[in-house]
Amino acid sequence: MNHNILESPGSPAELNANNNAGPAPGLAARFGPRKLRTKIFLLASSLIMGLSVFYLLYFPGRLEHHLSRDIADIINNTSSVASLGLSAELQAGDKTAMERILKTICERADGIEYAVLEDDPGLVLASSNRDVAERDMYRETDPVQPPPGRRTVYRTKTPVMADDRVLGNLFLGFAFKGLIAETTREKGVITFVCLAIIFVSGLLVFLFSGLITRPIVLMTRTAEKIAKGDLRQRAKVYSRDEMGLLARAFNTMADGLEKALREMEGTNKSLEAMMRARSLEMEKEISERRRVERELRMAKDELEHRVEKRTEELSKVNEELSGRVIETRRAEDQLQTTLERLERALEGTIRAMSLTIEMRDLYTAGHQRRVSSLAVAIAEELHLPSNKIEGLRLAGVIHDIGKIAMPAEILTKPTRLTKTEFQLIKDHPRIGYDILKNIQFPWPVAHIILQHHERMDGSGYPDGLLGDAILLEARILAVADVVEALSSHRPYRPALGIEKALEEIRRGRGLRYDMRVVDACMKLFKDRRYSFKKENTEAIFQ
Ligand SMILES: [Fe+2]
Repeated sequence: MNHNILESPGSPAELNANNNAGPAPGLAARFGPRKLRTKIFLLASSLIMGLSVFYLLYFPGRLEHHLSRDIADIINNTSSVASLGLSAELQAGDKTAMERILKTICERADGIEYAVLEDDPGLVLASSNRDVAERDMYRETDPVQPPPGRRTVYRTKTPVMADDRVLGNLFLGFAFKGLIAETTREKGVITFVCLAIIFVSGLLVFLFSGLITRPIVLMTRTAEKIAKGDLRQRAKVYSRDEMGLLARAFNTMADGLEKALREMEGTNKSLEAMMRARSLEMEKEISERRRVERELRMAKDELEHRVEKRTEELSKVNEELSGRVIETRRAEDQLQTTLERLERALEGTIRAMSLTIEMRDLYTAGHQRRVSSLAVAIAEELHLPSNKIEGLRLAGVIHDIGKIAMPAEILTKPTRLTKTEFQLIKDHPRIGYDILKNIQFPWPVAHIILQHHERMDGSGYPDGLLGDAILLEARILAVADVVEALSSHRPYRPALGIEKALEEIRRGRGLRYDMRVVDACMKLFKDRRYSFKKENTEAIFQ
């Protein structure tokens, strides 16, 4: 495992400080990366210690067991071989051969210190060492059965048999100092090796636990720095194991976190800029609104002042106007009274004029009233204003007043007039105009009377006016005059009737007479909405 982990992009001093830092607070204090290392160390050390203790207990015991078995094998084999070798010599009674065999056994067998042969009663027949036989020290532990137990010296008694008969006993003394020393040395080596393994294993576990937990510790510190806001920290890992994958995933997460934070910072800056701009705009709006409100208050005060001042002036003017209205009404009342009086005087004058001409000319009597009545009906059919109709009515009543200057003989002549007489009659419109021209009527009565014999085609008299040069009232009066005159009796001819009269104006429609006036007159008679009647003289002045 070879992790090559570096913290970046901090300076070397910072990196060194980071690596040498003590237990880091925060995440390190909470989860304790060094505790993880300690746990790994304790776990591995416990396993190694257990194995070592097991071997320390197992291998020395096995060595002791092998040692005891080897000793027992040596003793049994040696005793059996020696017993068999001595059986024949004991039957022969050759003590020299017996001693030679015993010495040979002591020289060749491993660990034998002495060998003594006795006969069945217990007399020493031969020995490998005379001193031993004489001291009789071989009998101290008689009988001795090997092994069990670990001792420095073993003493054995083996019967020498021949045909199931005991001929004697062989006493052997064994001393296995070399074998025991070798076993003890092997046990020391095993113990040393186990302790060395424990130490080396502990050291390796300590180093490897640090190596294993180092990436985790460094990543934890990096995570702590990122958690504190330093998003530049990264863990660069070049290994391809799980830790490398974890570090790369961690860096990817840190990149995303840093990018998100940068975007949030950018967004926050934009929002702050917008808020500042909006705040400035609101301050401007508030300032502008306050200024407008201040100006409005000033304008309102000024307006109230002006209204108050104007109200005072109007009150004064109203008082003056009230006084003037009262005076004006009083004057109007007086004027109305005067006007009514004048109208009554005017009507009386016109009535006097009409009666004057009718008293001189009986044929003309009633003619003016009927002409006036028909002219008013035509004017109403043409929807003329009432003011004009009133002027037309008065003009019709006295339209032949100029005949007052004509001789009565001409007016009442029963035959046709001569050319001279007719020329004299043709002056009556101008004479009537001259009579009335200086009277201030509210209507053009004098001009209506002057033009009532004019014709649209200029064939009329006295001035031969054409078309629109003739007053409309005069055109209406002309048609009414012709219709009434032809339908009535005259000194020089009988009455022709209304049909003849209407035929005359129909023939002259658009030529001598106004087209609209003729149509209105024809419609009145056709619809039987008008007819000539004998009317009371008073009627026209109602
Ligand atoms: Fe006339």
